[in-house]
Amino acid sequence: QAQRLWRRMGLKSPTPAALGVLLALALLALAHLPPSLDRSPHLQPASSPLSPRWEVAAPLSRGQACSERPPAPPARLRRDQPPGRGRRWQWRLAGDAPLWLSDDDLQKMQLLASGWVVSKTRVPAHGQVLRVGLRAVGDTEGDTSPADPEGDCQDGRCGLIKRPSDLYEVLAFHLDRVLGLNRSLPAVARRFTSHLLPYSYTNGSLRPIIWWVPDLQHLEDANNDQNSCALGWLQYQEMLKPRRPTLVTGDAPCSSIPRGEWSRLALFDFLLQVHDRLDRYCCGFQPDPSEPCVEERLHEKCRNPAELVLVHILVRKSAPSRLVFIDNAGRPHHPEEKLNFRLLQGIDSFPAAAVATLRSGRLHSLLLESLRMDRELWESQGGAEGLRPLLRTIDRRARILLRYIQEHNLTVFGDSP
Ligand SMILES: *[C@@H]1O[C@H](CO)[C@@H](O)[C@H](O)[C@H]1NC(C)=O
Ligand SMILES: *[C@@H]1O[C@H](CO)[C@@H](O)[C@H](O)[C@H]1NC(C)=O
Ligand SMILES: *[C@@H]1O[C@H](CO)[C@@H](O)[C@H](O)[C@H]1NC(C)=O
Repeated sequence: QAQRLWRRMGLKSPTPAALGVLLALALLALAHLPPSLDRSPHLQPASSPLSPRWEVAAPLSRGQACSERPPAPPARLRRDQPPGRGRRWQWRLAGDAPLWLSDDDLQKMQLLASGWVVSKTRVPAHGQVLRVGLRAVGDTEGDTSPADPEGDCQDGRCGLIKRPSDLYEVLAFHLDRVLGLNRSLPAVARRFTSHLLPYSYTNGSLRPIIWWVPDLQHLEDANNDQNSCALGWLQYQEMLKPRRPTLVTGDAPCSSIPRGEWSRLALFDFLLQVHDRLDRYCCGFQPDPSEPCVEERLHEKCRNPAELVLVHILVRKSAPSRLVFIDNAGRPHHPEEKLNFRLLQGIDSFPAAAVATLRSGRLHSLLLESLRMDRELWESQGGAEGLRPLLRTIDRRARILLRYIQEHNLTVFGDSP
């Protein structure tokens, strides 16, 4: 009975007025939870040692009795399933979830981390990734209706499983939220067990899964479908120049994207050293000969700026004036003496809240607080201790960026959503 309450609540966002009632119900529900839940892996402190977790079988969730459900994985692998939807609200009410993760983020993270895989679709020209349809645990509608890959994705119930080496994309998601940029997509780390997936996805490796945006805008051009608008480097630089409003041309490529978006992108890409979008030719640093930009003979184009184009410049159909950041794994090991400052070229103002967070000296601890939410990632990386070198790298890049802002007399602008 208590669980039914949980579920009903999990389905709707409570209005502020309902929160009080919700809290009361939550306490009631907690009081009625079976004692076995106390041993649920998800209720253990994040720092708990790894081994006991794997042995503890999570309690069966009610829905697993349903005949339409895919076969339950062996108990020892059941660690990737949560006790139920109520957990999200537990986090929120208990003050456990950091404020920079919205309820929508938490809901999507939950779906990605524990939703049942109900379908898989190959992504044309991207052999290393797989799009999967997901059903939330305890989703009765999903229990009975057949898998409908396209419909599920249109409803926002799909994720993109990437390579194990793309795991840093999860860190990028948390960095985005900690800095208040809110331009990247929810991402979690997960070990998959579904029999629908090929063995290389279920062999025990941790992979990132990124929420699939239903309405990314793609150019019609088959050779350039990784963009919502075609933009060359020179056009981009021209667009960044301050100009009189009368000269704004409405039909220039990407003109629906305000300058603040490029500032957010530049800041984010610099911290992560994502070169693909703004400088896929590695013009801003001396690449090793083994780098793809050298091997694919892109680097030599740097001599002719008119040939350089931006890639992965994407917006949603429903929000054409906001960039969507995808493929954010970046380069955590990019050497500090080769940082790509070309990513910052032309940007004369940065989002105030993000810069304030960088200045606060708290980036490291905020990121830890955020990453702790992703238990698979957290434990695979060895917790706070294991993550330290990576976060120090981001920290040092942040300080270098702040110095750059100061030395170039750059300004900040107030954030708008
Ligand atoms: C699982 O397969 C992936 C992709 O082929 C590979 O990168 C990874 O090393 C494998 N992991 C294990 C534990 O065998
Ligand atoms: C920044 O401002 C200072 C003082 O106004 C000035 O001396 C310096 O040349 C400026 N630097 C740049 C890069 O514009
Ligand atoms: C974050 O972005 C999403 C759309 O991507 C939007 O719905 C939400 O309101 C934004 N949140 C904030 C705090 O700006």
